[in-house]
Amino acid sequence: MDLKLTGKTALVTGASAGIGVGIARSLAREGVRLAILARRRDPMEALADEIAAETGARPVVIVADLMDQDAPTNVHAAIQAAFGGLEILINNAGLSSKPEPMARDEVWNAGFDLKFTTLRRLTNAFMPGMRAQKWGRIVNVTGIIEPVATSAALAACAAVHAWSKGLSRDLAADGITINCIPPGRINSEQIRTRLHPDPEVTKRYIAQNIPMGRFGEPEELADLVTFLASPRAGYITGTVIPVDGGMSRFAM
Ligand SMILES: NC(=O)c1ccc[n+]([C@@H]2O[C@H](COP(=O)([O-])OP(=O)(O)OC[C@H]3O[C@@H](n4cnc5c(N)ncnc54)[C@H](OP(=O)(O)O)[C@@H]3O)[C@@H](O)[C@H]2O)c1
Repeated sequence: MDLKLTGKTALVTGASAGIGVGIARSLAREGVRLAILARRRDPMEALADEIAAETGARPVVIVADLMDQDAPTNVHAAIQAAFGGLEILINNAGLSSKPEPMARDEVWNAGFDLKFTTLRRLTNAFMPGMRAQKWGRIVNVTGIIEPVATSAALAACAAVHAWSKGLSRDLAADGITINCIPPGRINSEQIRTRLHPDPEVTKRYIAQNIPMGRFGEPEELADLVTFLASPRAGYITGTVIPVDGGMSRFAM
């Protein structure tokens, strides 16, 4: 299938590790002109070299902390300078937060800001341009919101799903779609180092929770992102499509 993505411009946030790296590779292979963003420069320069060697086109590397107040303005300026506009925004940056119902406000606010407010603000920075060009694709990598416990990230992902659904109705008239993908358990830096460092515990977790019997790989989620980012997916908006090996128990 020709996804008709050649020459489109895209920004992938959280592309120094894990799922974002998979998304960057997948979009680059479709001929997308790419910018990648995270706080750590070195892994992004390595990824940009790898993509340049494979495709002949080197992604633009943007070093930014999305928690900074002026990040949306600065990132928008960097994209304007590089591409003159943006067609595809992949909001992927983020980390899980601990299930701590009684955590201090600062902990709740930081977790919520990272997984909701930063992506809302970045999206707002690019929305006028997408509206003016009458075309855009926004894909948010969120998280499963079936509550097994409560955390700031879980509440933030629920907020992103509701916000995206509402926004989809407003953006449709301008040819812009917005969709969410909650990963179940996808092999990534945070999964390996923070959430599942112990192989025995991980084995039990998989047996109890994941019908497919394994964690997913970043490319298994990235290919869905790439399809949703393409002109082919123009009639799909306001959706939440999990990539979770059957982990979610409830129909969405
Ligand atoms: N893997 C899973 O199974 C899973 C499950 C549920 C939800 N998710 C969601 O999927 C997305 C990707 O996660 P992942 O598992 O691939 O994690 P990861 O391997 O730890 O990657 C997270 C990415 O986000 C970037 N990031 C974090 N804070 C940032 C900030 N303040 N500003 C800019 N970039 C920032 C990190 O880059 P720097 O550290 O270089 O800034 C990194 O590139 C996240 O939103 C996560 O919540 C993943």
